Amino acid sequence: DDPEKLAAFQARIDRGEKIEPKDWMPEGYRKTLIRQIGQHAHSEIVGQLPEGNWVTRAPTLERKAILLAKVQDEAGHGLYLYCAAETLGISRDEMTEMLLDGRMKYSSIFNYPTLTWADMGAVGWLVDGAAIMNQVPLQRTSYGPYARAMVRICKEESFHQRQGFDVMMKMCQGSEAQKRMAQDALNRFWFPSLMMFGPSDKDSKHSAQSMKWRIKMNTNDELRQKFVDQTVPQAEYLGLTVPDPDLTWNEETGHYDFTEPDWAEFMEVLAGNGPCNRDRMEARNRAWDEGAWVREGLMAHATKQRAVSVA
Ligand code: ACO
Repeated sequence: DDPEKLAAFQARIDRGEKIEPKDWMPEGYRKTLIRQIGQHAHSEIVGQLPEGNWVTRAPTLERKAILLAKVQDEAGHGLYLYCAAETLGISRDEMTEMLLDGRMKYSSIFNYPTLTWADMGAVGWLVDGAAIMNQVPLQRTSYGPYARAMVRICKEESFHQRQGFDVMMKMCQGSEAQKRMAQDALNRFWFPSLMMFGPSDKDSKHSAQSMKWRIKMNTNDELRQKFVDQTVPQAEYLGLTVPDPDLTWNEETGHYDFTEPDWAEFMEVLAGNGPCNRDRMEARNRAWDEGAWVREGLMAHATKQRAVSVA
């Protein structure tokens, strides 16, 4: 890239200007955004699977309606984000093919199973809580279409987070068995939720450049710390115990000290060896293959319509 163009681009970012699809941008900026927005979109789509698993078994009609609405919202977020990525010159089909053949990632968290109804509470509370922590700052990210997509997504995510907390509250105010289920869900989802923020700063290969370009607004560790600080009092309110014996409030720093997640486990999940990686990819591959006739039908219809309007 031409150094003068690069300097002018960086100056725009530093002034807080938004970069729009037709503006000049360095190839690295474009590539990083396609990777991050694409991974984010795939996460929303794959993220429907662990919760979709409970739609038919929700305990009441009301809970079922709420869960259905939430899962549909996630599909909408995925489509929004694919559109934002498409403005960078990649198609949704290409991104999907890259997900299906393993060239693109989705969030590690969706490779963990949802074993009980309490997991619907833990996922909403912790997973959507972590997603919001990461996504609220992204409303100010430098790429216009991504920043604008984040505004609506964050509004919906905060409803998701509250519905999860509400499920947890109900469980915690219920029978002893229900409270045990809530605690068990927290035990299983705590460390995987901390992993959502990515590797520790010293191992994050993209953070420095992404922050310079204002693609990311915070480092992985900063957001992880904020999440712990916000979530521990919520766990206390629920009467649950965070599964970390070393968790302590640090008067000096004004933050909680906590145990880092097991990074070896994180790397295994990223490598495709988490508890549900194979199931998730199988489900996405099946949906893609079984939906081929719909895509073909739509294309044939569009071609016919074009022919009619030309004639
Ligand atoms: N799950 C899967 N992959 C991850 C995760 C994770 N939790 N965290 C980091 N990675 C990957 C990165 O994509 C990167 O992949 P690469 O090898 O293809 O380059 C690699 O691990 C190294 O990590 P970083 O250098 O720290 O990567 P990055 O700067 O992209 O930071 C982060 C990772 C924080 C997840 C960032 O991409 C981000 O903010 N993304 C937008 C939010 C998002 O994707 N959320 C999805 C989860 S929740 C949801 O919304 C439904």
